[in-house]
Amino acid sequence: MGRMQDMVAIVTGAASGIGAAAAQRLVEEGASVLLVDRSEENLERVAAGLDGNVDIAAADISDRGQVDDYTRRAVERFGGLDAVLLNAGIFGDMAPVDAYDEKRFDEVISVNVKGTWHGLRAAVPHLRNRGGGSIVVTSSTQGLSAYFHSSPYTASKHAVVGIAKNAAMDLARDNIRVNTVHPGIIDTRMMGELHETASPQDPDAAMTAFATSIPMGRYGRPAEIADLMLFLASNDSSYCTGGTFVADGGLTAFHGGPIPD
Ligand SMILES: NC(=O)c1ccc[n+]([C@@H]2O[C@H](COP(=O)([O-])OP(=O)(O)OC[C@H]3O[C@@H](n4cnc5c(N)ncnc54)[C@H](O)[C@@H]3O)[C@@H](O)[C@H]2O)c1
Repeated sequence: MGRMQDMVAIVTGAASGIGAAAAQRLVEEGASVLLVDRSEENLERVAAGLDGNVDIAAADISDRGQVDDYTRRAVERFGGLDAVLLNAGIFGDMAPVDAYDEKRFDEVISVNVKGTWHGLRAAVPHLRNRGGGSIVVTSSTQGLSAYFHSSPYTASKHAVVGIAKNAAMDLARDNIRVNTVHPGIIDTRMMGELHETASPQDPDAAMTAFATSIPMGRYGRPAEIADLMLFLASNDSSYCTGGTFVADGGLTAFHGGPIPD
């Protein structure tokens, strides 16, 4: 029997990268999954590759009404809700803190912070109806430490840790667990865009430079984050709440400096 047998899950940001890998992993373990993303075309492509009980909902997670709609849709379509993976997010621009564009700052906060809060808030009554459940929030290693030229992203990924920890307190007696996942540098479209921004002439050089800075010497794969998300979404993590779960090839344990051969 699968680790998510007869369970219903929502995955946001499911049209790409980590979210698509997580949706696949949950489906493999028997969950019925609603895949949510703002890109309907990519959602259809990902859903077509999944062998299981799935549906899609095109929505912008920063819009409260759309979040309420997709949450209701999962419950109506599959008969309840057991796990929510609040994973959709954007990186924003790269610029020093004193030169960052205010509109972009607001956009990153609106999607990453407000979007997570909307998703969490909308899911709670449905999880309560089932006698409990799991909320998994995708933060980042930038929710624990910082990188350069990305102040709103770092702020947003720290903020969701606060929301998740507080929600874990508020919901503990309802048997609703809330945890954050902190991926390091993962090979997805988001990192591809960052390579282009950081080194427009030679994006591959940016990738090599990032990989060299990781103690394990390589990027993570989306499936490696999906496995951690599966653990947190399933009853395997029945005593975990308010936790911060890192999967980063040693990045946050490393204080920086040249890495010996
Ligand atoms: N790739 C990494 O190195 C890395 C590291 C740490 C954390 N993360 C986090 O992991 C999560 C997934 O990122 P990814 O690397 O898979 O990137 P990705 O760009 O491949 O996927 C993100 C998905 O989120 C969707 N999305 C963005 N804004 C949305 C919105 N307003 N409403 C609905 N959907 C929206 C996009 O359409 C996209 O399909 C993000 O929260 C990201 O911050 C990524």
